[in-house]
Amino acid sequence: MKKRVLSGMRASGRLHLGNYLGGAKGMLELQNNPAYEALYMVADVHGITAPYDVKQLQENKRGMLLDYLSVGLDPEKSIVFMQSDVPEHLELAFYFSSVVSMYRVQHLPTFKDEVKKHPDNVTMALLGYPVLMASDILIYNASLVPVGIDQEPHLEVAREIARKMNDTYGTKFPEPVRFATKGEYVPSLAGEGKMSKSVEGSYINLTDDLKTIQKRLAGAPTDSGKGEKLPTSGGVFNLLKFVELFEGMDARKKYEQAYRGQGIAYGELKENLANAIYRELKPIQEKRKELEHKTTYVSDVIKSGAEKARKIASETILEVKEKMGLS
Ligand code: TRP
Repeated sequence: MKKRVLSGMRASGRLHLGNYLGGAKGMLELQNNPAYEALYMVADVHGITAPYDVKQLQENKRGMLLDYLSVGLDPEKSIVFMQSDVPEHLELAFYFSSVVSMYRVQHLPTFKDEVKKHPDNVTMALLGYPVLMASDILIYNASLVPVGIDQEPHLEVAREIARKMNDTYGTKFPEPVRFATKGEYVPSLAGEGKMSKSVEGSYINLTDDLKTIQKRLAGAPTDSGKGEKLPTSGGVFNLLKFVELFEGMDARKKYEQAYRGQGIAYGELKENLANAIYRELKPIQEKRKELEHKTTYVSDVIKSGAEKARKIASETILEVKEKMGLS
């Protein structure tokens, strides 16, 4: 049997370059590898674990699905679906919650961050976030999960749940591991840290045109362009990482050489980099425009994705209920 892959993104807004390189590229790679059967969902139910706007969520979840299709997720090759269309995820999550200690999930960095961000919204749903995520994965017996490194603590919980379920009830869940892409750490354009929607000046949107990309790159901090030692963090380090991601390692090496010699002309570097980024984004943007008009097609994709996913998910539920003494 083929190995299963599952991944999802929270429907909290449009994709930026960080989600694309760190998440979507890995999803694409596995979709196009015939050794795997891939399922990719829009994690809309996870969207209700933080305060949200109803209308916004409705728009975001469809927007996220369009983004998926625009970057190349192909419903002919993968099962593409909405999490909430497969209610079995929620059922399994509740069964799973019986083998997870509250203290275990209370101490996750992601939970603590959310508590800080929304101290008035420390809900059961938020606490159960990683349990639902484990259910998303294990309901398909997926063993490989292409996600960013920030999701590693959640995968650890998923592995613990798989072990506990197998030991206690004799299920045969795999212990899922993360699939990392080479672009998984996408640095911030603002100099420090990683690209994030919540840090102004740090990101490039998938929808940005060439002019906007140029403008955003223009704001990225640089230095005098030369020195004996290459910087190991900060603006220039991050720019060189972008060069590597979009123009390749050789291009990066050339700039590094220049840094130690005659110096880097950042104007030129940014010009080339903007072109390289735009070259990659342009076909995605064109596809997105096309899809915006194909409403029936998109609805059909969502419907058939749900059907295919539910077929697998309901089998898992039957088995778990039986093993847990519920049927
Ligand atoms: N927690 C993930 C994120 O914030 C989204 C997600 C939900 C997910 N369920 C998943 C990712 C299952 C991988 C597998 O990015």
